Amino acid sequence: PTDTSTRRGAFIVFEGCDRAGKSTQAAKLVEYLQNRHKQPLKNDETSIASNLKVSETMTNNSNDSEVARLWKFPDRTTLIGKMIDAYLKKTKDLDDHVVHLLFSANRWECMNVIKNILMSGTTLVVDRYAYSGAAFSAAKKDLDINWCKSPDIGLLTPDIVFFMDLEPEEAVKRGGYGKERYENLEFQKKVRKVFLDLKDSSWKILDARQTIPELHQQIIETAEEVIKKCESIPFSENLWK
Ligand code: TYD
Ligand code: MG
Repeated sequence: PTDTSTRRGAFIVFEGCDRAGKSTQAAKLVEYLQNRHKQPLKNDETSIASNLKVSETMTNNSNDSEVARLWKFPDRTTLIGKMIDAYLKKTKDLDDHVVHLLFSANRWECMNVIKNILMSGTTLVVDRYAYSGAAFSAAKKDLDINWCKSPDIGLLTPDIVFFMDLEPEEAVKRGGYGKERYENLEFQKKVRKVFLDLKDSSWKILDARQTIPELHQQIIETAEEVIKKCESIPFSENLWK
């Protein structure tokens, strides 16, 4: 049996084009994991707030560690994230190379925090990662895919990537895109093509046309297996190496 003091959390990534349902499924997975680790309750309903609190006895290390936590890239709260936010909202124009490197730097600046979260035994569910970084930039005319991948080489390797695959034509039907940069059909079609070229052994491609509960069921089954497997293997910092 694994020594509980060395158990780490899993690094679970959701990827896909805009409007594919990543954020919905990432949040549902975190909620599921938090509830699954709660101590059995009497039959009465508990409030959402208390469901989100994890029972102390079920956590691995410290009393206030969580079973699972949600993360999102870009992390718009940091200094670099604020520049990215301004670019996406089109209040600022930046050279394509520059913004690409900012997205990558935004991941690098979070790596230590993320590693500590995983080492504390918390599973991290991440909405977008380096695959978005490469796919959105390489979909632009002049950026080569290998150049796009290179600044993210050596990032923490995801234990699993759920790629929520949806044809951009379908995404449009879902109420379409917002007003941010990249949110248009022609560009999203290019992004999806690059994404599919980036598929590697960590990927599980999901047909995002399915219903929310159908997708959730597939995701939790795979996530459970991955979380179990990760407990006994250390994380690696080998992305695209
Ligand atoms: P998104 O997750 O869509 O934010 P929101 O939920 O607020 O709509 O991310 C914003 C956009 O940034 C999205 O179109 C994808 C793009 N992006 C990149 O171009 N490079 C990156 O490295 C990442 C993480 C996202
Ligand atoms: Mg978006």
